[in-house]
Amino acid sequence: MKVLALETSCDDTCAGVVDGPRVLSNVISSQASFHARYGGVVPEVASRHHLELVNPVVDAALGDAGIELDDVDSVAVTRGPGLIGALLVGISTAKGLAAARRKPLAGIDHLHGHVAANFLEPDPLEPPFLCLIASGGHTLLAAVRERGRFEMLGQTLDDAAGEALDKAARLLGLGYPGGPAIEGAAAGGDPEAFSFPIPMRDDPGLDFSFSGLKTALVYTVRDLAPRELESQRADLAASFQAAVVEQLTSRLERALDAESWDAVALGGGVAANTPLRDGIAAICDRRGLRLKLVTPELCTDNAAMIASAAVATDPAPYPEYLAWDAWAA
Ligand code: KG4
Ligand code: ZN
Repeated sequence: MKVLALETSCDDTCAGVVDGPRVLSNVISSQASFHARYGGVVPEVASRHHLELVNPVVDAALGDAGIELDDVDSVAVTRGPGLIGALLVGISTAKGLAAARRKPLAGIDHLHGHVAANFLEPDPLEPPFLCLIASGGHTLLAAVRERGRFEMLGQTLDDAAGEALDKAARLLGLGYPGGPAIEGAAAGGDPEAFSFPIPMRDDPGLDFSFSGLKTALVYTVRDLAPRELESQRADLAASFQAAVVEQLTSRLERALDAESWDAVALGGGVAANTPLRDGIAAICDRRGLRLKLVTPELCTDNAAMIASAAVATDPAPYPEYLAWDAWAA
């Protein structure tokens, strides 16, 4: 069952082919350098770049997989959530590709894609498992009891973890995307140099909150002279990252206390973060749980994860999908 998938929900133009749990290709063209000068993704700029990149990226995905469009059994595309103009480019392209060969087309929820990255080789993980998704747009704990659906146990009440890291990096003059920049700067810093709050620490639920943490950094930076900021940037990055990781890991532990799970998985761009991966690995080690850590390339946005989610989704037959609205696919 070969699925060709497209993912254009934010600023990465992605296409990939999977055959069941096997990734045949996973092409990602990052636009980060175009958005870096603005310190974040500019939606209109993203849409225009997707338009330029999508056809070459699809060609590369088919080429890397060693197949032609005729060889795929179905096409899949991210239908949301995401930037509407950016999504539209992927959805229109996928409709065109599928319709040209009378192939069926599946519209996939982006978050299901991040969960489904864990179904891929090596060592595919089958439900049930507890999944922490932390990305630029979302932070949530998902109870995955079967393929194709999950129960949201908790989610962020304000900013997403990646969004907080991106904003912190901007404040610290570390560039975009912020997560990898903070991780790089933090490597030379002391995570205990500054004591940032862990929002919701005493709240009994499984929700997250990152806006107070961001505000604490704003005030800390405001009170530093430029030269102090320069000399303490690594410590600030390390302490901020530690506070983000602490909140994510402590919520995960609380979810593990509340319900018995045999396996834990991660998803979303922040799941590429080494201190977070190490922290969760230590928790799973201590509790004797299986931990599935996908490669960083499968954590951040990519199309193989969308194709993986499509494996358990009934696609719409031709020509039904031609009538889809972009946001209601
Ligand atoms: O999943 P993703 O690629 O896109 C969304 O669905 O949002 O996640 C992007 C987010 C950004 O906020 C980025 O700063 C963060 O993931 N990120 C990281 C790392 N790599 C990407 N955060 C922490 N450490 C990383 N190594
Ligand atoms: Zn994502």
